[in-house]
Amino acid sequence: LNCNKNKLAKIQVLIFSLGLIFFTSSRVFSKPLNNNESQGETIYRNGILPSGQSLTAIVAGDIEVSGKQFSCMNCHGRSGMGTIEGNYIVPPIAGKLLFTDANQPVRSAYNNSSLATLLREGINPDGKAIDPLMPRFIINDEQVSVLANYLARLSSEIAPGINDTTIHLATIVTDGVDANLATAVASVLQRFVIEKNRQTRLEAQRPNRGKRPELRSASLFRNWSLDVWHLKGRASTWKKQLENYYNRQPVFALLGGLTMQSWQPIGEFCELNQIPCMFPSVNVSGAKEGDFYTYHFSRGIELEADLVANYLDENPAQKLNQIYCKGTASYAAKRLSLKMQRQSAKLNSLAIDCDDPKQRRSDLS
Ligand code: HEC
Repeated sequence: LNCNKNKLAKIQVLIFSLGLIFFTSSRVFSKPLNNNESQGETIYRNGILPSGQSLTAIVAGDIEVSGKQFSCMNCHGRSGMGTIEGNYIVPPIAGKLLFTDANQPVRSAYNNSSLATLLREGINPDGKAIDPLMPRFIINDEQVSVLANYLARLSSEIAPGINDTTIHLATIVTDGVDANLATAVASVLQRFVIEKNRQTRLEAQRPNRGKRPELRSASLFRNWSLDVWHLKGRASTWKKQLENYYNRQPVFALLGGLTMQSWQPIGEFCELNQIPCMFPSVNVSGAKEGDFYTYHFSRGIELEADLVANYLDENPAQKLNQIYCKGTASYAAKRLSLKMQRQSAKLNSLAIDCDDPKQRRSDLS
């Protein structure tokens, strides 16, 4: 139940993943969506039409599939900024880039009617057929207009924490984390940021380097800057502290993060503010179904509790004793107790102090 040893190895994975996630998970809206835009979002993300029916995609010429599997988001990303899959470039379709001319590949701006033609027939505004990897859809003009209103809002604003020269990032450490470990983690991340800035320092002098509109700006090569947010005291006070840090200096993303408690209050803050929070080193994610913004390596200790509960569902016991170390393990113990309520088995729980061998012996006896 103790994952500390893996933490530094995980940070390496974290660092390799950063580039990828930066392209796909940045904040997509500041103001809430109106009704019509929300309907557009449901088409975009889930492939479900305002009528509640699922959108039909036609793949490889004549194979009809439910749009749920072929939702726009699955290929063009939640941010609408596109992606690269093997040799394929899935282009950005956020409205800002779609409803204007593009020069890589060269094409004229879309409007609602040419978007409808593209979605139904795969023909772009210049009359060119696009790759069959992009499915064709059975979609009427009204549904296209709902979708287009949504695309117009998608990634239409620059995410907070970014200005002309800098991308602001932060990592989180809370009270209760071993000081040496906290310093080690922060210094690895700082070193990475320094290296990243050093290696890209010349890029800022190369304006107009790419043909795609989003690559044409030299300011793509902003410096990274990393702050450490230290959260003190009880977890119930973290929300306020996080808001204070964020108001003082908004960040584009939170990297890593260390706490011996549940990540839940921080995860909630990330969801609320649409901040990507990448790979915190925590044993308890506290993540809820549908959460998107925190990327966890694993569900940690909650996963272990669920596995034990599943096992006991299949192999019921009359009486159970669960013995666990005080601290983060108590989250799993509580979760298991809750899950076991649906069974008739009697569950006795004993929390022992594992850090102190003498206390542990006396607890156990
Ligand atoms: C299976 C993956 C996939 C799905 C699902 C998908 N697309 Fe695409 N889309 C692509 C690819 C690949 C291209 C690029 C084709 C090319 O360049 O020849 C593309 C191109 C486009 C273009 C043309 C962009 C341009 O610059 O000309 C638009 C617009 C578009 N898609 C909108 C959508 C919408 C809206 C949906 C959902 C209703 C959707 N796509 C679903 C893969 C997909």
